[in-house]
Amino acid sequence: MTQTVATAEEGARVYAADRAHVFHSWSAQALIKPMVIAGAEGSYVWDYDGKRYLDFSCQLVNTNIGHQHPKVIAAIKAQADRLCTVAPQHANDVRSEAARLICELAPGDLDKVFFTNAGAEAIEHATRMARLHTGRIKLLSTYRSYHGGTMTAVNLTGDPRRWANDYGSAGTVHFFGPFLYRSVFHSSTEEEESARALEHLEQVVAFEGPSTIAAIVLETIPGTAGIMPPPLGYLAGVREICDRHGIIFIADEVMAGFGRTGKWFAFEHYGVVPDLVTFAKGVNSGYVPLGGVIISDRIAATFAERVYPGGLTYSGHPLACAAAVATINAMKEEGIVENAARIGETVLGPGLRELASRHASVGEVRGLGVFWALDLVKDKATREPIAPYGATSAAMDDLVRACKQRGLLPFTNFNRLHAVPPCTISEAEAKEGLAILDEAFTVVDRYYEG
Ligand SMILES: Cc1ncc(COP(=O)(O)O)c(C=O)c1O
Repeated sequence: MTQTVATAEEGARVYAADRAHVFHSWSAQALIKPMVIAGAEGSYVWDYDGKRYLDFSCQLVNTNIGHQHPKVIAAIKAQADRLCTVAPQHANDVRSEAARLICELAPGDLDKVFFTNAGAEAIEHATRMARLHTGRIKLLSTYRSYHGGTMTAVNLTGDPRRWANDYGSAGTVHFFGPFLYRSVFHSSTEEEESARALEHLEQVVAFEGPSTIAAIVLETIPGTAGIMPPPLGYLAGVREICDRHGIIFIADEVMAGFGRTGKWFAFEHYGVVPDLVTFAKGVNSGYVPLGGVIISDRIAATFAERVYPGGLTYSGHPLACAAAVATINAMKEEGIVENAARIGETVLGPGLRELASRHASVGEVRGLGVFWALDLVKDKATREPIAPYGATSAAMDDLVRACKQRGLLPFTNFNRLHAVPPCTISEAEAKEGLAILDEAFTVVDRYYEG
């Protein structure tokens, strides 16, 4: 591994400048201590002290292809030499090719791409398209969800990041999706949870007024909210409700898409085809910011003779699209999506379940591919979370510290640790991560030992 040469003094300078001038996302600025990253490669990042960390967070679950993939770097460099930027009204070779490759991966009549700079903008535009296409205003989404930080996206979001930004009048309505481990429907099986969650959604649609609802927006597998793969039949049921009422089904694949679940799109696991699909993150692993909406022919036709009232200076930016073309091609050539599926089935799934069987604090393991959540509890019988909804706790803070001390960068949210390494992770690296988590959970177990 070619670890970049860096010194602790340089690291201190970077940190001081950050603290003086950088205003960070979702943070009380005076209360944070950002980790200073000097470099990264493959499944690892390192700091200015030369300490290496296995990146089980993929930063914000975006480096599906791993850090510094040589083919993607080469494509960005080549594109920079050729053409750095071009306005969205012109046609451009890498934008056309990125759109063609994405549509080729998508099923049914999902055949056009509107490019954005990231995931939240993809949600803004998908919902705008749905509203204009249906002539309706309301958007339904689940409480356990995150859809982005811009206005409609944050109002659609269910998690506490919405609270301070919620203007109530944005036409968004929330409902409960299926989640057997913490069922609000008192279900005891996946079948029951699916049926009851669908019945609840039917009721919400009926009482909101079907003729007022433009779209149901669902993360195919909710990500930051807890990686809850829906029970088989649930998404087909949502599709049926949408069809019956002329409601647009928007699948938010920003986190779950592009290999993370062991398939190109998470909805492929459930045999449903949405009307609109939002994507970002894994499409080019965030090497250059890119997101977008994959649009079905039916909705695209609405804007054939009528102007679509939306746009972005950098829609389909060539550096970002070149990175997407290289990422998708490399993922195909190197069997990276298949690797994610195999590692999930043979290493991470069995390994994490084995940890749950030995650690008192691991209440449930959920996931597939390289997309796993561990629901951490004070007591397996009561399932009381080790941190309350919307907050952290000393036990969670200690868990993060224990992981980092042992060289693993985790993704955590409330009472959960998410094991979300790159789709490229090797068996040995996945096992290294499991061994570190094993030691770290011992730290949490001690909190609640009788
Ligand atoms: C499911 C989902 N949708 C939308 C977003 C927003 O994406 P971005 O942060 O790129 O705007 C995220 C970000 O984590 C996400 O996980």
